Amino acid sequence: MVLGVSGGIAAYKACELLRLLTESGHSVRVVPTDSALKFVGAPTWAALSGQPVTTDVWTDVEQVPHVRLGQESDLVVVAPATADLIARAATGRADDLLTATLLTARCPVLFAPAMHTEMWEHPATQDNVRTLRARGVVVLDPAVGRLTGADTGRGRLPEPADIFAAAQALLARGAQPLDLLGRHVVVSAGGTREPLDPVRFLGNRSSGKQGYALARTAIARGAEVTVVAANVALPDPAGAKVVRVGTAEELRTAVLDAARGADAVVMAAAVADFRPAVRADAKLKKTDSDPEPIALVRNPDILVELGRDRAHAGQVVVGFAAETNDVLANGRAKLAAKGCDLLVVNEVGERRAFDTPDNAATILDPEGGATEVPLGSKDALAHVVWDLVAARLSAT
Ligand code: C5P
Repeated sequence: MVLGVSGGIAAYKACELLRLLTESGHSVRVVPTDSALKFVGAPTWAALSGQPVTTDVWTDVEQVPHVRLGQESDLVVVAPATADLIARAATGRADDLLTATLLTARCPVLFAPAMHTEMWEHPATQDNVRTLRARGVVVLDPAVGRLTGADTGRGRLPEPADIFAAAQALLARGAQPLDLLGRHVVVSAGGTREPLDPVRFLGNRSSGKQGYALARTAIARGAEVTVVAANVALPDPAGAKVVRVGTAEELRTAVLDAARGADAVVMAAAVADFRPAVRADAKLKKTDSDPEPIALVRNPDILVELGRDRAHAGQVVVGFAAETNDVLANGRAKLAAKGCDLLVVNEVGERRAFDTPDNAATILDPEGGATEVPLGSKDALAHVVWDLVAARLSAT
């Protein structure tokens, strides 16, 4: 593969990415821009990759590197991708080895941008990113956090481990088409917390792992992803827009807002069905008398609302259901009651569902179909969900 490095301070983090790539067995040719070499020198890239390093098209001309590198690669990753590199790629420039490689590559291409917030948010950069995405390039959204100096904001290079995971996902899918390219999907993840007072809440055991797996895999398949995360302690999935919420009401507002422009909404979050009728402003005190029962009121069922009031015809709505008994019968009844297009039914048990890396499920559809997904990673289950979502989207 080719690791393109353009001239930003985050170039030093690409050394760690290069390590992750080479140690997992990939042969990596690093192609920096001239400016990148002002941050990290060619000997570092050559030593870490074990391959020659050039920035121009005039070295080893007899091997025609400006064409061969792109043609022979299985993946091109550009990290960091600066505003300038993104602009040059979007306009099809070929004024150095990296841009020439990007023009000749027919494999998946992944960009991990890093720049100051103002540069990222500028309409010129946003137009260029849209252009690249429309052509099939997977452009991760930059992370939010500390930038070069004391300043913070959106523009930070996604963590090398996250770029590595996105690269692996793209390679794993090989030549498979990016079937969610140009699609906007919304995923809810985690579990809501319904406060009793400022320190106590009614919650559940959902970790957000399945929701984040859905986000990660959708990004790898080319989608623009909004994650509505309820109390999730995991690192943000690289490239997703993450909206943080606490309660079911907050989750409802965020999901319905994001769903307006979405092609698909997947409700993987565990949403509390009830909340305390009263939320005390001050911490409830221990008393000597027996405690009062806690009165509960019903929360709105967001999935029912999504299924009933579709933002537009053709929007695919997916629900999750965790069941402990009569899994399929309960699942069928729930699919009908919720009015969604797909219902992913989990049996809650030892090594599956809550806070584990693995899951198994049956995915039900209103036509009577049932897709069995055997015990495997949450990413594997997520891919089957997107296979079914993509099939329904392309049928409309
Ligand atoms: O009815 P049950 O809680 O089992 O349904 C689970 C599905 O419904 C999940 O997709 C969950 O996100 C969604 N749900 C919801 N609003 C609620 C309760 C559950 O959207 N108040």
